[in-house]
Amino acid sequence: MAELTTEYLGLQLPSPVILASSALSNRLDNLVAAEEHGAGAVVLRSLFEEQIEAASTEAEEAGQRHAESNPEARTYFPPQRVGPHEYLSLVQRAKKALGIPVIASLNCCAPGSWTGYARQIADAGADAIEVNIYSVEADPSLPGSEVERRYVEAVAGIQAAVKIPVAVKLSPYFTSLANVVAQLQQTGVAGVVLFNRFLQPDISLERMAPVSVMSLSTPSEALLPLRWIGLLHGRVQLDLAASTGVHDSAGALKQLLAGATVVQLASTLTRNGVPHLAKVLQGIEEWMDRRGHSSIDEFRGTLSQKQVSDPGAFERAQYVHLILSQNI
Ligand SMILES: Cc1cc2nc3c(=O)[nH]c(=O)nc-3n(C[C@H](O)[C@H](O)[C@H](O)COP(=O)(O)O)c2cc1C
Repeated sequence: MAELTTEYLGLQLPSPVILASSALSNRLDNLVAAEEHGAGAVVLRSLFEEQIEAASTEAEEAGQRHAESNPEARTYFPPQRVGPHEYLSLVQRAKKALGIPVIASLNCCAPGSWTGYARQIADAGADAIEVNIYSVEADPSLPGSEVERRYVEAVAGIQAAVKIPVAVKLSPYFTSLANVVAQLQQTGVAGVVLFNRFLQPDISLERMAPVSVMSLSTPSEALLPLRWIGLLHGRVQLDLAASTGVHDSAGALKQLLAGATVVQLASTLTRNGVPHLAKVLQGIEEWMDRRGHSSIDEFRGTLSQKQVSDPGAFERAQYVHLILSQNI
């Protein structure tokens, strides 16, 4: 019988499949259902920097400033004039109701006084914190190195403020992602989540205005985290969580083979319901039984770049022979 237990961020998980930070993970009944259907852990919906700022005396100004630079926050969670006390209450209720680890999520884009909230989240009982860090920087005078410096500083602030493990959820938009991950490792974080998925603004020809549309991912989007997990496995001493485009057991197994410690699911559970999680786990178990694997450690990373006979497959953006063979 296949054994699915997994260690992630130093925590013991009954399985490597996690309910990702999402609209689902804002409700206690969904969190309980996730545990019932075999989730290894849950990541709560993010507490956005905007919420924290909005609760402060500088609400107006700060909310405006951050909403401009972080459109993701507006889409997932329109800035509200509420403090983080509801969030702390969710952490406490989730901890009381669940046996699996509860990972809180902070969504921020710069170092700030809100690291104090990271402490409060830890005090509320969260087992770990996932820091989702990203901003849209449109200032032509701001070099990428300065943006990276701020990100690393923000993460280091949180890491220093709490004793519970910290993971960082990243975007794929870095010139040298591996270097950014190495810099984050230096701060002492325990893992990275690859990747967050961003909602890009569209333009409505009827309304003659930009519009934001909430769209769910498709399985083909999983190839981006698959590549980077395959590249980073064995190169950094961090846990790697795959996020984006993992919809079924095949998708989850591919990420584990590339080297993922765990996979996170949001879109597929939003579309198919939380019980779909059990199907994903059943598919993983059946595959392991067929291949004679008794634990995930036995095959995790066996198809990472370091292990495969054609390491170029992970690095080359285009394969010449594939491109030249397309005669239409
Ligand atoms: C409705 C919805 C809400 C989300 N809210 C958050 C959030 O609050 N914080 C966060 O880090 N990610 C959030 N995400 C992103 C997911 O955690 C995940 O990274 C992304 O959807 C890609 O994974 P998927 O292909 O499994 O959907 C949200 C996604 C969806 C669909």
